[in-house]
Amino acid sequence: MITIRSERELALLEEASQVVLETLELIEKAVTPGVTTEELDRLAEAEIRRRGAKPAFLGYRGYPKTLCTSVNDEVVHGIPGKRILKNGDIVGVDCGAVVGGYFGDASRTLAVGTIDPEKAKLLEVTRRGLDAGIAAARPGNRVSDIGAAVEAVAIPHGYGVVRDFVGHGVGTALHEEPQIPNYGPAGRGSLLRAGMVIAIEPMFNLGRAEVSTDKDGWTVRTRDGSASAHFENTVAIEADGAVVLGMGRLLRRASSAVAS
Ligand code: MF3
Ligand code: CO
Repeated sequence: MITIRSERELALLEEASQVVLETLELIEKAVTPGVTTEELDRLAEAEIRRRGAKPAFLGYRGYPKTLCTSVNDEVVHGIPGKRILKNGDIVGVDCGAVVGGYFGDASRTLAVGTIDPEKAKLLEVTRRGLDAGIAAARPGNRVSDIGAAVEAVAIPHGYGVVRDFVGHGVGTALHEEPQIPNYGPAGRGSLLRAGMVIAIEPMFNLGRAEVSTDKDGWTVRTRDGSASAHFENTVAIEADGAVVLGMGRLLRRASSAVAS
């Protein structure tokens, strides 16, 4: 079952995502050669709590931290620890927060210092994959139209599109129905309707699509050792298209009403 959210619920989902996006902005400023992933995690947890929210990942199925920090060939779910980020690394920072029982979930892959052009391109194209998925998340489209749009961005670059992990509905749990794959074909799955809230989260690899999970039970990395990027936003599907949550949904609704 895919839940349709009320205005009251959308307001809480917006708030939770706002905490997540503002925490990610803080982390972005702190990502610099020499910082450890554990230090980033401590900053994020303090910021989320300071804002009166709760970390969503901490304790989720036994997950031990606030952030997931996934470096270079790590795709998702890297556990913050003593690892020191160095110039030229890329780090995926995934963050979740809960406000009044409603979840927000977002991720950015960030450059540490100066990165090589190949990695810079991977970040840019994965970000574009997310934006293409968001543009396809509109009423009347089906779930797999999102994945088809995401995948179409990766294909011309020859990137591997990770198939073993998918986006998801977001609401009173971190992971709800439906699952949102990052590949097509288009035209399959549930019809998208206004009031649905979903996290879209493409993972693109410089090499092949295959991934494996480390013995820690969490860290997912590319099998061929190639670098990987992950971008994620939680979005609300509204009558005229998807709205990224956490960026002032109500303000933007008001101004588009004035504009039209
Ligand atoms: N954004 C990731 C996801 O949607 C977060 C994983 S949370 C963890 O799956 F707690 F499982 F690490
Ligand atoms: Co997610």
